[in-house]
Amino acid sequence: MSQQPIFPNSLRDAVTAIRQQNKAFDPTIGIILGSGMGSLVDHVQGSVAIDYHNIPGFPIPKVQGHQGRLVMGMLAGQNVACLQGRVHFYEGDVSLFLRQMVRTLKLLGCHTLLVTNAAGSLRTDMPAGSVMMITDHLNYSIPNPLVGLNDDEIGPRFIGMDQAYDNILQQKMRVAAASIKMKLYEGIYLGCRGPNFETPAEIRAFIRLGADAVGMSTIPEVILARHCGLRVAGLSLITNLGAGMSHELLTHEHTLQQAAKSSAALQQLVLGFLKTIAIN
Ligand code: HPA
Repeated sequence: MSQQPIFPNSLRDAVTAIRQQNKAFDPTIGIILGSGMGSLVDHVQGSVAIDYHNIPGFPIPKVQGHQGRLVMGMLAGQNVACLQGRVHFYEGDVSLFLRQMVRTLKLLGCHTLLVTNAAGSLRTDMPAGSVMMITDHLNYSIPNPLVGLNDDEIGPRFIGMDQAYDNILQQKMRVAAASIKMKLYEGIYLGCRGPNFETPAEIRAFIRLGADAVGMSTIPEVILARHCGLRVAGLSLITNLGAGMSHELLTHEHTLQQAAKSSAALQQLVLGFLKTIAIN
């Protein structure tokens, strides 16, 4: 007989706090919104938003472009829980926050996690404004949020990452892109800890390693999601070419501006994707 996982107290406290605000809501899809993509929540119907500071163990995001709210409601026919604001390892050791956020989605009932981010492109044929579906990743220097004692009730000590980005969800994403006639790029996301952007020499090395896009987030959430059994789909919104590939000056403001400019395309894809997901 399979046993229900017993989640530790602080996780239960987070879920209790959320349920107090939104009693009978059972989300099935968790969505993490990247820099400049928070406006996806404007499409959420019957939304209930809870500030992170009202959820035990959640962080207060300090990075411009990351609001810090959990927004729940219906999006394209699915019950979703959107994390509008994430934390990054360039802010310090954020493992506990990340664990709390991802595992709370799981405990609320989500079976799937859609992660989005802003990223630099390592391919000249994938310019700013492109949307890339993440098919796999390379962890270059982001700490692993599972380091430390393992909680066997949440997931096993050692996990496989061969299906980090679920094949079936990838296929659904392709169908969704085709249905809105959007060119969907596909590739490998390489994660750096940041907060500095990469050097041109690093970008050249990453191209040789086989990466297609580079960013400072996502990988920890994907590791945590796989650990607790969530299926993952990932999208990168390309905001620039990698350092040294153009004359553009890379700044966070530039990332936010570019993400805001083309986030509508990513949002349409997310809506189409949610429509193609059958609950199983
Ligand atoms: N490098 C790292 N992170 C990023 C980039 C980049 O070029 N663009 C957006 N996020």
